[in-house]
Order: sequence, then C-alpha cells, then structure tokens
Amino acid sequence: MSTMVMTGGTSGFGALAAARLRESGDVRVILGARGRGGADALGLDLAELESVRAFASAVGEELAGSAVDALVLNAGLVLADAGHRTVDGFETTFAVNHLAHYLLARLLLPSLAEGATVVLTTSGTHDPATGAGLTPPRHADAALLAHPERDPGLDGRPRKAGEQAYTASKLCTVLTARALAGQDAVRDKGITVIAYCPGQVFGTGLAKDLPWYMRMAWSVMGSPVVSWPARRFDRTLNTRPDAGKALADLASGVARPPAGRGYAALRGGELTWPDPSDAALREDSAQELWTANAALVGLPG
Ligand SMILES: NC(=O)c1ccc[n+]([C@@H]2O[C@H](COP(=O)([O-])OP(=O)(O)OC[C@H]3O[C@@H](n4cnc5c(N)ncnc54)[C@H](OP(=O)(O)O)[C@@H]3O)[C@@H](O)[C@H]2O)c1
Repeated sequence: MSTMVMTGGTSGFGALAAARLRESGDVRVILGARGRGGADALGLDLAELESVRAFASAVGEELAGSAVDALVLNAGLVLADAGHRTVDGFETTFAVNHLAHYLLARLLLPSLAEGATVVLTTSGTHDPATGAGLTPPRHADAALLAHPERDPGLDGRPRKAGEQAYTASKLCTVLTARALAGQDAVRDKGITVIAYCPGQVFGTGLAKDLPWYMRMAWSVMGSPVVSWPARRFDRTLNTRPDAGKALADLASGVARPPAGRGYAALRGGELTWPDPSDAALREDSAQELWTANAALVGLPG
C-alpha cells in the first residue's frame, strides 16, 4: 500500500481526487484539513505556520518510519482583496496558497520515498499569455507578497490587488516546484515534481470568499447546462471530475511528465505539458524565492 499526504482534499476537484485515490484500494491518503476531513485527516490550517509544523510532525508519527509516496499540495483560496493577514502577519492568499506549502514540502522532504511524486496545484492565471481574466502577477518577491503594504507598485484597487495576490501566489508555486526539483535530496531520491494547472474548473468552493454576484456566476458557470457548450469552445475549461482524475493520475504516477517537463496543464480534459510563463522559467527568480521563503519561515535557505 502506498501513502499519500494531501492538502485541499475536502472540497472541489481535490475531494474528487482524494476519493478516487482511496477507491483505488491500495492507497492510504492522509489529508491535512481544517475540519471534516474524514478518518484519515489530521488537523491543518495553512493560515498558521505553527499548524503546518504540527501537521508535519503528526504525519511523522502516523508514518511510524514508513515513507510518503506522494505529496499533493492542492489547497488554495481566492480573496476579494489583499487586506487579510494570517496570525503570522503575512498576506493570507500568499501565505495559504504558497508559503505554507513551501514549509510543508521542506518539512516532509526527509520523509519522501525514493521515486516519490510531489504535485503542487498552480493556475494558468500565473501566465499573462493565457489571457485569463485575472490581473497577472508583477513579481515573485516573497517579502513584498507577504507584506503588500510595503510594495510601492501595489494596485490601489482592492479587487485588482486581491487578484494579483492570487496570480502571484501561483507564479510562486511554479517557481518553487522548479527550485524543489533542483534540490540535491530530491535529485538523489529520484523524486518527480510537477506543477499542475487544472485549467478553469467552475463550480468548486474557490469563489466562497468572493462577493455574492461572483459566487453566483461561478456556480452558474459550473452547472452542466452552461459548462458543457462552453467547453466546446474553450479548452481551458474542465469539469471537476476531469480535474480530479488528472490530479489523482499525477499523484499516483498513472500520468508521468515527459523528460524535462514539470508543468502539467489540463486542456480539454487532457493533460498537456507546455512551458509555464516566462517569469516562471527564470532560474534566478526560483532561487531567490526559495531563499526568501526560507527566511520567512525560519529555515536555512
Ligand atoms: N477551480 C479553478 O478554476 C482553479 C483553477 C486554477 C487553480 N485552482 C487551484 O486548485 C486548487 C483547488 O481549488 P478548488 O477550485 O477545488 O477550490 P475549493 O473547492 O475551494 O478547494 C480548496 C481546498 O483548499 C482548502 N483550504 C483552503 N484554505 C485552507 C487553509 N487555510 N488550511 C487548510 N486547507 C485550506 C479547502 O479546505 P476547506 O474545505 O476547509 O475550505 C479545500 O479543501 C486551489 O489551489 C486553487 O487555487 C483552481
């Protein structure tokens, strides 16, 4: 039996992926969840770094010396602005979507098995070239993303600043996937690291913190009657079952990246392996972000 550790498995396509993995019969899925995560869930609030550390040590106890075959970092949120702060004092979207997952990956790295897989859920909105409706990221400077009030270029319009916090967190995710793949311990163990873009998956819980009219639009777009014809014209649109299946396939190794690829984008229900954005390909940015994240969470760079 293989063991997977997963965040974001209580809602949306992540819940479908977790169920699919469990149903495959030979996988134990340890969920990190805030509340109702089921029998195999351990408490985890990504908005609190101390909770991430406690979760990592609880996972260590559960493992009792065995190893993790897949680490799936799928949790995420979208907020209406960039004005929220975690208990650690960091902007919440950056902290939950990115920084907490960086810390978790580093804490669990020693527990990963030879040949393990790490999947980090990102978003095509990190890439201005996808033409997604959200404001694209301006940079991946962790110190400024953690404290946007110090960012001289911060968009003064709350909604735009919120969108940028989200798209920047997802740019950081791709950069961190690339930096993680370059770590000696990851190379030595032959670990595969994949940044996964599920495309646009309407009808999940992702809009729950947005204003009512956006929640309503999100829900309507996710209804079969609207989404089925829309998918015929836009390959970035995917169903929740397709996005969940692709995530499960990546985690379990059913889908493997072609040599030299690490960015999986679900398009028309099929996994594709394009380049991420130009900014996400910058080696210097990946290294700088790795070191800056380390400083924020109190680990060596
Ligand atoms: N839907 C899309 O179109 C789309 C597109 C690109 C990327 N994504 C990414 O895909 C991932 C899954 O999104 P989704 O659309 O399936 O949304 P969702 O239904 O809202 O799922 C989000 C998951 O993240 C968890 N989560 C949020 N904040 C957390 C926290 N502080 N601590 C622990 N867990 C937390 C949620 O747990 P609770 O159940 O406790 O809320 C839930 O399991 C996210 O990373 C999202 O950014 C989604």
